[in-house]
Amino acid sequence: MKRVKTAVFISGRGSNMEALIAAAKDPAYPAEIALVFSNDPQAVGLKTAVAAGIETLAIDHRPFGKDRAAHEALIDAALRERGIELVALAGYMRILTPFLTGAWAGKMLNIHPSLLPKYPGLHTHARALAAGDLEAGCTVHWVTEGVDEGPVLGQARVPILSGDDEDALSARVLAQEHKLYPASLAKAAAEMVEG
Ligand code: GAR
Repeated sequence: MKRVKTAVFISGRGSNMEALIAAAKDPAYPAEIALVFSNDPQAVGLKTAVAAGIETLAIDHRPFGKDRAAHEALIDAALRERGIELVALAGYMRILTPFLTGAWAGKMLNIHPSLLPKYPGLHTHARALAAGDLEAGCTVHWVTEGVDEGPVLGQARVPILSGDDEDALSARVLAQEHKLYPASLAKAAAEMVEG
C-alpha cells in the first residue's frame, strides 16, 4: 500500500506528534511519519521522535531574525530532499509566510485548540472561559495564508463545565486533539492516495 510521506512540525512538547506517530505504526494507516521538524533544537518532542526511531531535523529560527523567508527556504528544501508529500503542523508556534503556505498549499494541515472560526491565535481556552461559552473544542484545517483560517477538515467538541479553569479545559480538549488529528490526517492522506 502506498503511504503518504508526512512531516510533523513541532515547537515543544509534541503530544499531538506522539498521537500521529502511534497511529502511523499501523501499516494500514495511509500516512507514514517520515520526519519530525522543529524550529527549536531543544523541543522536548524531538527526543520522543528519536526514541520512536523517526528522523528529526531542527533548524533554529533565531539566527534568521526577521528573515522568516530565509528560514522557510531551508525548511522547504529539507522537505523536498526527503520527498515529503504532506506536512502536519502540531503545536508549531511560528507564523508562516506566504512562501511556505503557498509552496505547500493543499498539502499542509494544522491543529488548533478552538472551534474555528472562533478564537484564532493564542490563549484560546482562556478566551472561551472568559466569554462564558458552554462548549470548546479543537479543529484540524488546511493551512492557507491567513493564520488559523483555512478550510476545516475536522472538529471535536467538549463541554465547558462549571469550575473549569484553563488547565482543566485544555486537558479535556487535548484528549480530543489526540483522536481528531490522527483521524483527520488519515482522511487527508487517503484522499491523496486515491487522487
Ligand atoms: C496543542 O494544544 C495544539 O492544538 C496547540 O498547541 C498545543 C501543542 O501541544 N496549537 C496551537 O495553539 C497552534 N496555534 P503538543 O505539543 O503537546 O501537541
